[in-house]
Amino acid sequence: MTDQPIDLSPLRAQFPALQEVDDQGRPFVFFDGPAGTQVPRQVIDAVAHQYATANSLANENFIFGRRCEETVQQARQAMADFLNAPSPQEIIFGPNMTTLTFSMSRVIGKTLQPGDEIVVTWLDHYANVSSWQALEEQGVLVKQARFDVETFRLDLEHLASLLTDKTKLVAVGLASNAIGTINPIPKIAALARNVGALLYVDAVHYAPHGPIDVQALGCDFLVCSVYKFFGPHVGVLWGRQSLLEKLPRYQVAAAPPDISHKFETGMLNFEGLAGTTAAVNYLAALGQEYGSQFAADYPQFEGRRKALKQAMKAITVFERNLFTYLIEQLQTVPKLTLYGITDLQDFAERCPTIAFTVEGYSPQQVAAYLGDHNIFVWDGNYYAMGVTTLLGLESAGGMVRVGLAHYNIKDDVDRLIVALKNL
Ligand SMILES: Cc1ncc(COP(=O)(O)O)c(C=O)c1O
Repeated sequence: MTDQPIDLSPLRAQFPALQEVDDQGRPFVFFDGPAGTQVPRQVIDAVAHQYATANSLANENFIFGRRCEETVQQARQAMADFLNAPSPQEIIFGPNMTTLTFSMSRVIGKTLQPGDEIVVTWLDHYANVSSWQALEEQGVLVKQARFDVETFRLDLEHLASLLTDKTKLVAVGLASNAIGTINPIPKIAALARNVGALLYVDAVHYAPHGPIDVQALGCDFLVCSVYKFFGPHVGVLWGRQSLLEKLPRYQVAAAPPDISHKFETGMLNFEGLAGTTAAVNYLAALGQEYGSQFAADYPQFEGRRKALKQAMKAITVFERNLFTYLIEQLQTVPKLTLYGITDLQDFAERCPTIAFTVEGYSPQQVAAYLGDHNIFVWDGNYYAMGVTTLLGLESAGGMVRVGLAHYNIKDDVDRLIVALKNL
């Protein structure tokens, strides 16, 4: 294993948006990846190709229908490879993570009794909090595990103390979309298993930054969104096959009964699915070209699954290097307070997403000012209001968020720092 710096900047040429300039010829800096990443040319082409050659509904009777069916099968296999799911039948598509989670909370809710308990966290995006809190209307007790506002990590002792023999489900994020913390999912899975609870993991924020292996994580469900990892607006839910088979159908009457369709409402987004496969293939190609030195780290994988692991490892190494520079530079900006893990030794416990405030300015003012300098960042709570609330920042407008993706470069960081110093 080597953690030598890796240069992924040649990949920027594949992203048309990165070549865009404003009307005075000035380029843009995309630090808004946590809200949605840019897409490479092959994803754009795959979406267009679907419209041009297979714009129909999946069916057996004619060629366009069969091509459509093939698009669906290919996307299920691509996502099974991306997540190391045992079977493509365990992959369920939907419009986005929130809609899938809301509908899965209704499905699981049908199996719960008044007095049953669910544990969520203060660190999560509220798609993975409110969806479960909605079950309070049927008498389910929803408890919320804290994170430590000094260390920015989930308080596992507090979480463990909330678990009882009535806990039926634990819902937790793989990484925080506000401050970047990666949660120790295998440990949380063991805690949940101890009390016989299911584990529902939100991997939306983590997905563009590192390898995901649902089998190694030990979770029962995992959700992500393809638009956060270089693809179209498509949500993906993986569920353990034995559970998907057992759970009740929560669907319109005419829907096919097999497990992958059982939880998919209405027509799938075929062009989005074509783009999903293309996004996964983009990453696999990245893995082959830039991650072959990590091949020995993944002896149990082959083919696209191996290439994807190599890709995500290469991305992790690249991003960690650039993120180290970003943090060092941000620490030189006067009156700026960082929220998130900043100790270089602990960077394996975080994604390259950092939040901050600047004394004297609201987060919205800072984000708008940076926007005027063609630097795209987000402000507010990004639906992670548990984080801004516990940090005492919710009423002050939250925080400014800067998120790195593998297409960012040192010059992007330099432009940010110059702009902030001139604020
Ligand atoms: C961690 C996290 N979870 C869930 C979501 C919601 O995802 P979607 O837009 O696919 O519903 C987001 C979106 O920003 C997110 O960052």
